[in-house]
Amino acid sequence: MNVLDFSNLKLAICADYGEVSRVSAGYVLGAVKDKANAVLGLATGSTPVGMYKEIVFAYKNGGADFSKVTTFNLDEYFPIKNTDSQSYIYFMKENLFGGINIDMENVNIPNGEAADAEVECLWYEEKIKAAGGIDLQVLGIGLNGHIGFNEPSPYFEAKTHYVSLDESTIKANSRFFESEDLVPRHALSMGVGTIMAAKKILLIVTGEAKAEILKETILGKITPEVPASVLQLHQNVTIVADRDAAKYFL
Ligand code: PGA
Repeated sequence: MNVLDFSNLKLAICADYGEVSRVSAGYVLGAVKDKANAVLGLATGSTPVGMYKEIVFAYKNGGADFSKVTTFNLDEYFPIKNTDSQSYIYFMKENLFGGINIDMENVNIPNGEAADAEVECLWYEEKIKAAGGIDLQVLGIGLNGHIGFNEPSPYFEAKTHYVSLDESTIKANSRFFESEDLVPRHALSMGVGTIMAAKKILLIVTGEAKAEILKETILGKITPEVPASVLQLHQNVTIVADRDAAKYFL
C-alpha cells in the first residue's frame, strides 16, 4: 500500500478490492478500539460490502467489541418499508449488524417509514447531536461525486434533508432492482454539513469508473456540483482506493 499525503487528506492506494476492504476495516476497528463507545457514521452500497465482511470476521475472531458503539447511517430511501429488502436498514442488518454484537437500540438510520420526512430529518440531527457527534464517518462516492445522497447541486446542504435522487443515481442503483421503475425517487440524507462535522472521515473508492471523480474530488475546484470536493476542507480525511480508482495518482 502506498500512501500519498495531501496535508489534511491522505490517499492510501491498495493493490485491489481485498486490500481496500482489509485496510478500511482496520481503520474502523481501530476507532472502536480507541474508544469503546465510538459513534460511527456508516454507508451502504457495493463498495463497503467487503469492509463489513472483514469487520464481522474480526468480531467473530474476538477482535472487536461493538456493545457500546452507536451508529448513524448516511441515508435511506423515502418512503420505504424497513422490511423491504432494498431498504438500507435491511442492507445494514444483512451486511453488518446481524454479524456483530451491536445493541440495535444504538443503531440509527433515517426512518423510511416516518409519517413526516421533515420532522424525521430534524429528529435525526438532534440524535446525532445528543450522541456527541460522529467520531468516524465512512463514505462511498457516486459516479457524479455524491456523498450520502447529496447530489450535485448549486449549493451545499447543511443538514439531514429530503432529497430527489439524480437520474444518474437512479440508473446506477437500478442494478439492485428488478427494473429502473422500481428505484425510489426520493431519500433522506445527512447533509454535507452533517458529514463535515464528523471528527474523521474514511472515503472508500474502487474501480476505474470512479477514477475521474476521485481526481476531481482531491484536485478539482471545491464546488457543490462535485459534493465530495468539499472534503478538501475537512481536517482529517483518509481515502482508501484501489489502483484502478487511483490511476491518476500512480
Ligand atoms: P457504490 O455506491 O459503492 O455502490 O458504488 C457508492 C455511492 O453511491 O455512494
